[in-house]
Amino acid sequence: MQPSACIADDPLLLLVAGAKGAIGSTVAAAAHMLSEAPGEVLPSLTTCGDFDLGPCPDIRVSGWDPRSEPMSEAIKAHGVLPPELWQSLSQVLDRIPIERPPDRRMPFQEQVTHLMADIRRMQETHPGARPVFVNLLPAGPQPDQFPETPAQLYAQMDPGTFPDLAYALAAIRSGIPVVNFTPNLLALPVMVSEALGQGVPMAGRDGKTGQTYFKVVLASAFRARGLAVDGWYSVNILGNADGANLMDPERAAGKVANKTNLLDDLLGYRVGERYNRSTHQVRIDYYPPRGDAKEAWDVIDFRGLFGLPMSLRLNLQGRDSILAAPMVIDLARWVTLLKAMGRSGPMPELGLYFKVPVGENPPVTFQEQVWALERLARLCREAGGVTEEKKR
Ligand SMILES: NC(=O)c1ccc[n+]([C@@H]2O[C@H](COP(=O)([O-])OP(=O)(O)OC[C@H]3O[C@@H](n4cnc5c(N)ncnc54)[C@H](O)[C@@H]3O)[C@@H](O)[C@H]2O)c1
Repeated sequence: MQPSACIADDPLLLLVAGAKGAIGSTVAAAAHMLSEAPGEVLPSLTTCGDFDLGPCPDIRVSGWDPRSEPMSEAIKAHGVLPPELWQSLSQVLDRIPIERPPDRRMPFQEQVTHLMADIRRMQETHPGARPVFVNLLPAGPQPDQFPETPAQLYAQMDPGTFPDLAYALAAIRSGIPVVNFTPNLLALPVMVSEALGQGVPMAGRDGKTGQTYFKVVLASAFRARGLAVDGWYSVNILGNADGANLMDPERAAGKVANKTNLLDDLLGYRVGERYNRSTHQVRIDYYPPRGDAKEAWDVIDFRGLFGLPMSLRLNLQGRDSILAAPMVIDLARWVTLLKAMGRSGPMPELGLYFKVPVGENPPVTFQEQVWALERLARLCREAGGVTEEKKR
């Protein structure tokens, strides 16, 4: 059974923080390509493939970014897409309304009010579209406070340091589901209670696009065969703005932790225990010649029968934003459907898409993550009869 027309047909409106970044601008191009040349985009969406959610609706884009150049210039500057893919769309892309972010020095509560007004205007431009907030801001430092009330949030978190929190709170208070593709922690206790109170699903965090995706697949395979992982050395070289930003150790710490922590949980033991230190080592290096065409190397040492050592090498020559953009569209589809089903708060079932799935007891192995999505897709399809009231 396909989702009923009342769920599937309304366009989606992506409200993107970081709309002119490498991923944001690729999403904008992909969203417009969906109507011009759907065959170029649909095969990359899991929601049109293995976890079929029915026909993909129109996708509209709006959002925020401090970059002043038109969207087509941003696309050109990132160099993710060859000109022949987007040049014919440049006029349409340049008409995408992108707001400037609120001033960093504006107090937290005022930022939220300001962003809620932006959101209202963006929604008025696309009446009838189902909005989703997508966080594509640069990686930032990890908070050391975990506020439980709005008052604590305003007092403890500087929106200049943690700009995503004001965006996410504005979205939640506008009743809009949240996709957090960044390594930044948004699911603080206060944000989760706001989301539950507003009936808003939250998906996150840190998109699992390349190296970590294949790490989960391989680690699940090692575990299923009882092959003991002795060490896993991972290095990434990337030359885009995300890579440059991650040269700041404070900003990289969260990303490296997200890429590192999941392996022990998945395998069920501490990799490197016999050496009294973790031998799961992850490095990220900014290397300008690569641009968005990231390369990742993995060396995996493992042991089999009688503890005899073996080793595996993996070399991924990926494209960061090309891997990420369809996941963003998929996630927007999932969270709007989940909201229509009356789900709210963190959505651990979307673990396939994230390095650190939010919520309790997320699926850990690759198989569990696939099963969780299959179950979710079935539930979404069965919920085809949701009422208009539930949908908004
Ligand atoms: N590409 C991947 O494979 C991948 C995987 C997982 C996570 N991520 C994360 O996704 C995020 C986006 O990645 P990207 O490659 O597009 O980064 P990017 O640096 O190209 O884009 C970030 C954009 O945010 C804008 N920005 C900065 N401050 C802002 C503010 N206060 N309000 C609005 N916009 C603001 C910047 O101008 C820029 O255009 C990063 O956090 C990255 O770590 C990427």
